[in-house]
Amino acid sequence: MTPEDLDFLLTAAGRALLEVADGLDFSRTQVVASTEAVRRVDPQHAAAAIDVVTARTRAAGRIRGADRMVLTDEAVQQATAWPVAALRALRLSSRVVHDVTCSVGAELGELVRTADRVVGSDLDPVRARMATRNVPGALVCVADALAPPSRDAVIVADPARRSGGRRIHDPAQLSPPLPALLEVVGGRDHVIKCAPGLDTSVLDHRGEVEVVSLDGSVREACLWSEGLSGGVGRRATVVRTVGAGEPGPWGPPRLESDGVAVHVEEVTDGDDDDVDAHPEPEAFIVDPDGAVVRAGLVRHWARRHGLRQLDPRIAHLTGPEIPPGYSGFEVLDRCRLDRKELRRVLRARDCGSMEILVRGVDVDPDVLRKSLALKGSRPLALVVTRIDRSAVVFVCGPRRRG
Ligand SMILES: C[S@@+](CC[C@H](N)C(=O)[O-])C[C@H]1O[C@@H](n2cnc3c(N)ncnc32)[C@H](O)[C@@H]1O
Repeated sequence: MTPEDLDFLLTAAGRALLEVADGLDFSRTQVVASTEAVRRVDPQHAAAAIDVVTARTRAAGRIRGADRMVLTDEAVQQATAWPVAALRALRLSSRVVHDVTCSVGAELGELVRTADRVVGSDLDPVRARMATRNVPGALVCVADALAPPSRDAVIVADPARRSGGRRIHDPAQLSPPLPALLEVVGGRDHVIKCAPGLDTSVLDHRGEVEVVSLDGSVREACLWSEGLSGGVGRRATVVRTVGAGEPGPWGPPRLESDGVAVHVEEVTDGDDDDVDAHPEPEAFIVDPDGAVVRAGLVRHWARRHGLRQLDPRIAHLTGPEIPPGYSGFEVLDRCRLDRKELRRVLRARDCGSMEILVRGVDVDPDVLRKSLALKGSRPLALVVTRIDRSAVVFVCGPRRRG
C-alpha cells in the first residue's frame, strides 16, 4: 500500500469505500464479482481497500479489534497472535514500554491494555501511520529500532523474520539485525521476540529464553533481559485456548476475551527436575509439548506430572495417565525396529492408518509407513524411540487427550 493510498483511506471518502468493500464476500467463488463492485466505486483505490478488508478477515481471532483496524495482509501474517501478545503484556503491567518494531500495532494494542505508558515506532512510515490510527492509546512515530527515541522505557522488539517468504535462521539476517539490536538495547530492560528455530546460543544474551506454544504449535522464543526474568533462565509457556466458559485443562483461565479463554501452564528451570528413567513403559507414552522440549525442560515437566523418562537422553515420557491438557498413547505392544515383525503385529491388530512419532532414531516416518503397507481398518500409533542405545518401537492406540 502506498502512502497516497493510506492518505485516501483515512479520509471520509476512503472510509466509505472501506464500508462498501467490508460488506462483500472475497472468498474464491465471489472474488471476481466483489472486486469489480469495488472498482466500480473507485478504480484507483480499490486494490488498497480490498487489501484492508481481506486482511481484517484474516486477522479475525488473531488480532483483537482487527475489524476496525487499517492493516495489510503482510502485516497480519507477521503479527503476534493476541493470546501470546496479551500474556507478554501482562508481564509488563504498569511499566513504560516502547515497541520499536510496532508495525500496524497488533502487539501495541495489547501493551496499551496493561502498561503505564506506551510508545510505538517502526521504520516503515505507512505502518507507523496505521498504528497511530489503530492504537489511539499509544504515541507512535517513525524511527529506526537501532536508534530508539526513548530513554528509560522497556524495549519490546519483534524483528521481521520472513524474507521472500522464507524463514531466516541466522539472527544477523533479521530486520533489524538481532546482534546489533542487542548491542543497542543491552543496557535496558528488554523483551525480544524471535523465531523458535533461531540459534539463540550464538547471541550475547543474559536473562531468560521463553519458548511459547499456542494450541500445540511452537510460536516463538522470546528473550527477556535479566531485569525482567525474575532469575529464570529457561521457561516454557504452554498456551491453550478454549471457548469462554468452557472448562480448561488447568483450572481458571489467565485471560478471557472475545469469547475465548486463555489457559496457561508454565515450567521453568527453577522447578524440580528429579525424575527416574526406566526402560519399561507404564500404561501411556506421553509426548511433551514442543515448547517444553525446545526449552530443554522435559525432566522438569515430567516431575510436575508424575511421569518418568524411558531413556535419560530422549524426550519420550511414560506414566499411568496422560496429564490434563496434553496427549499421549496407550501402549499395546513392544517390538524391535524390524519391518517383518512390525507388519505381523500390525496385521494382527487390523491396523489401517497410523501416526508415527520418532525421537533419537534415524527413521523417516513416511518411508516407514509406506513400507508397512497397512491394509486393516483401525487407526493406531507407532512410537519409535531409543532406549539404552537400541531402537525400540511401541505399538500404541491412537492419540488420546488427557
Ligand atoms: C514482525 S513485524 C512486527 C510485528 C508486530 N510485533 C505485531 O505484532 O504487529 C516487524 C516490523 O519491524 C519493522 N522494522 C524492520 N526493520 C526495522 C528497523 N530497523 N527499525 C524499526 N522497525 C523495523 C518492519 O517494518 C515491521 O513492521
